[in-house]
Amino acid sequence: MMRGIPLRSWPLATFLLAITCATPEATPSAAAGDRGAELYARHCAVCHGPTGDADTVVAQLLRPRPNAFRHGLFKLVSTANGMPTDDDLVATLRRGMPGSTMMAYDWLPEADLQALAGEVRRLAVQGRAESIHRTATATSRPMTSDQAVAIATAELAPGPALDVGPPLPATAENLAEGERLYGQHCAGCHGSDGRGLPAGADWPTDGTWLWPRDFTAGYLRGDATWRDLALRIRAGMPGAHMPPARLSLEEARSLTTYLKSLIAEEASGHHTQWRRTVRVPRLADLGEAHRARLDRIRLPLAPLWWRQDACSELWLTAAHDGTNLWLRLEWDDATRDDAATPTSTIGDGVAIQFALGNDPPLVAMGSPDRPVNVWRWHAYDPKGLAGMVDLIAPAHLGLDVPLGGVRPRPRAESLALEGTASARRETGSGLPLEVATQWRDGRWTATFRRSLRARATNEVDLEAAAPVLFAFAVWDGRLDAHPGSKAITTWHVLELDP
Ligand code: HEC
Ligand code: HEC
Repeated sequence: MMRGIPLRSWPLATFLLAITCATPEATPSAAAGDRGAELYARHCAVCHGPTGDADTVVAQLLRPRPNAFRHGLFKLVSTANGMPTDDDLVATLRRGMPGSTMMAYDWLPEADLQALAGEVRRLAVQGRAESIHRTATATSRPMTSDQAVAIATAELAPGPALDVGPPLPATAENLAEGERLYGQHCAGCHGSDGRGLPAGADWPTDGTWLWPRDFTAGYLRGDATWRDLALRIRAGMPGAHMPPARLSLEEARSLTTYLKSLIAEEASGHHTQWRRTVRVPRLADLGEAHRARLDRIRLPLAPLWWRQDACSELWLTAAHDGTNLWLRLEWDDATRDDAATPTSTIGDGVAIQFALGNDPPLVAMGSPDRPVNVWRWHAYDPKGLAGMVDLIAPAHLGLDVPLGGVRPRPRAESLALEGTASARRETGSGLPLEVATQWRDGRWTATFRRSLRARATNEVDLEAAAPVLFAFAVWDGRLDAHPGSKAITTWHVLELDP
């Protein structure tokens, strides 16, 4: 069954090891001063690979897999030959790709996005050139590397822009025609309502995790503007099993108008991982009465392993009183998982990760030169004595746990992570972090409270004036909970009001 996740039993060690190896390294070919290569090594290589082959250990932990640029196949294109223009690539970088761990990089300056687009293209050309060169050599047609690069450059140059025409109004007639075409050309893969692969559909199980998702819920890799949808229809998605439609321009326009009507206005951008600045108001005190007036901020979550029913959002409420920071996180979770189950090795949990510098690695848990401080809570701690007992006499078998009714205890901790298991330390003494949690009616609420001042050097110090980058992770013990199956946010900016 292709939706089953075969890595359920991956030990934590594997995951931590993965993060160790994930520290981006400079691309060997990166000429000094090459801005694109430098940015790529810093922000992208951890997932897409130093040479663009996406063969990193982190990439193995992600579904869908990061794009292997060396293969020269992209999804979001606006050209007749299926190659992205620089504008296509920059648009992808600006928005990220919702429904995957490709985050939005809109916080980088425009010139940097352009430089990154150039680097992605260079890697694609390099990959293609090497393949051309290999084939030529194997078939005894001598060729220089420069010749191979020239051929690859020409092959991968974006072709003419696809004409999609102006948007067609959503009249009853156009919608009816679009619906007819949709049923004929699209429903077989997308279901009659666009909510994803129809039951029983025969789908390639190549492990890339790229089946049609519920695009009506906003799980669109690209934008949901009329023009973007028209381009997906006319160009298809060359990097996925999404073929270009064989339709006339007029038919494609009716279909686009119908397609747009399936996607609610608010679904567009709903899952986009834009970096947000969270301003934390200062209250006279952190009592209930004062907190009642605070706003909740919605932060989209991206599961590292795609599943349509993964928790997709987290609600954050934040305040401080000049001495303590108070953060409340709320997220949906249909079941409370605080004991070992046949499918879970960790149970439900939540973590807040603070960068201890301004230039953190992306989703990885720190690296020796860029450490992070993680505040974490797990409903079930399999590492404690009680947790071990629970693994031997699992609660789901209805057995009474011996040892005087010891139950696995929830665990809150503040950790300093530098990416490696050995650099994982509990920080502070006497646990200055207070965590309170509650599960009710399919929803977890967790409140974290800590002094603004750090008690140890490897804890985040929130008294300093500078804004701090922070990110979140949620574990759902009900399904596939090996440590790598969490859902994460991108880095956001925490700013305390004076
Ligand atoms: C956390 C891992 C991760 C990081 C870091 C990351 N990406 Fe991605 N990226 C992905 C994934 C996963 C996909 C594939 C999404 C899909 O195919 O649906 C992807 C896809 C892409 C694509 C393909 C677009 C298309 O049209 O198919 C481009 C281009 C891209 N990333 C560029 C970048 C660049 C440039 C950076 C650095 C600024 C970067 N990515 C950083 C995970 C990552
Ligand atoms: C052979 C199966 C197949 C057919 C036929 C097909 N699609 Fe798709 N479509 C896919 C797959 C697979 C994806 C997901 C690609 C990915 O994200 O990796 C997709 C993605 C999409 C998306 C999401 C685009 C985005 O930005 O993520 C839209 C919209 C869409 N298809 C519309 C259509 C329409 C309209 C038709 C009919 C003309 C159609 N598709 C026909 C397989 C198909």
